[in-house]
Amino acid sequence: MKRDIKTRGDIELLVTTFYDEIRFDPVIGHIFTRVIGANPEKYLHLMTNFWENTLFYTGSYTGNPIETHRRLNKIFPLRDEHFRRWVTLFTSTIDKLFEGQKALLAKQRASAISTIIKTKILQ
Ligand code: HEM
Repeated sequence: MKRDIKTRGDIELLVTTFYDEIRFDPVIGHIFTRVIGANPEKYLHLMTNFWENTLFYTGSYTGNPIETHRRLNKIFPLRDEHFRRWVTLFTSTIDKLFEGQKALLAKQRASAISTIIKTKILQ
């Protein structure tokens, strides 16, 4: 039995493991390599705050992911397959590391938020 996501440290493990996989992905990795490159600290920090806030309502994230991805879409046109790949990788990273209520919630939120971002920016 794996454990559930409980602490900020768990979320840090989740986002760093996810980043270490997605940056080598053949479908989507190049976007991360080009935009984030060798300095992932800011991205990992924002992602940790985002997921901490999403799962534990800490108020630690105040950014605007829709705007961020709208900006990104102007540099790298994002397609449906990119979003599908993102969600698939995020889901498999969670399944590799965790199980439980928060792990399930994180997967559900990732899928729902992906649809929201996609709907808002791919028009
Ligand atoms: C097509 C799929 C996606 C790609 C290629 C992508 C790529 C990126 C990149 C390159 C950044 C850094 C942007 C920068 O520093 O300027 C970023 C930021 C971020 N992404 Fe994504 N992303 C995708 C989907 C998602 C999804 C589905 C979520 C949430 C469920 C998400 C959550 C975030 C968050 C929270 C940030 C930080 C936003 C901020 O406050 O600036 N991303 N993403």
